[in-house]
Amino acid sequence: MSDEPTKPGAPAPPGRPRRKPAAAGRSASRGSSASGEGPASGGKPFLYVVVCAAGVAGGVGKLITAAQERNWDVGVVATPQGLGFIDRRAVEAQTGHPIRSAWRRPGDPRPLPPPDAIAVAPATFNTVNKWAAGISDTLALGILCEAYGSGVPVAVLPCLNAAQAAHPAYRQSLERLRTMGVLIGSHEPSAQPETGGADVFRWEEALELLAPERAP
Ligand SMILES: Cc1cc2nc3c(=O)[nH]c(=O)nc-3n(C[C@H](O)[C@H](O)[C@H](O)COP(=O)(O)O)c2cc1C
Repeated sequence: MSDEPTKPGAPAPPGRPRRKPAAAGRSASRGSSASGEGPASGGKPFLYVVVCAAGVAGGVGKLITAAQERNWDVGVVATPQGLGFIDRRAVEAQTGHPIRSAWRRPGDPRPLPPPDAIAVAPATFNTVNKWAAGISDTLALGILCEAYGSGVPVAVLPCLNAAQAAHPAYRQSLERLRTMGVLIGSHEPSAQPETGGADVFRWEEALELLAPERAP
């Protein structure tokens, strides 16, 4: 089980359980270190950006900027492989929060407040398939697997090449995530796995997909 916050009293599946809209969901009673729920986020809704090890990942600052402009407080969770694709210091300076990648030790405080929404961008073939299968062997996957039961809205922007996308497991994974209520972006598989189509990757689409979830 991941060490991520599961909202007390969250309704059980089936279907993605509905939570209060993000903007209205955070209150002064949540998010304090003393309560063990992580640091407060100044009253703003808190967005986790989960970053996987895809060639475009170095551009995640664009998503962080766009989210902050839409009044999200942002924290980044990177897969262990994804860490190598981003500029850790730049991201932490931009968000004001430490990047999370590994589980904390028992008794350690939570470095981030609980999420009001999650954007997985970029999402790799590997992480999409493991997430859909319920595998939780990275902190990022643990957070994603628990998001369903907690009713936290999740948008995913897959980024992979055409050969990966042709694998039958990938189609099945997307279908399962869709039935779980995950909001799936429209990025087309790239023929160039190394760059992954960085020039056309639409980071803002994650926020567009999540926008209705914030409506009162
Ligand atoms: C330069 C480079 C670019 C890559 N780009 C992608 C990509 O766009 N999509 C993808 O699914 N995998 C890509 N990979 C492979 C992933 O990094 C690899 O599958 C990794 O295990 C994924 O780990 P994660 O899902 O835990 O982040 C790339 C690898 C390298 C070295």
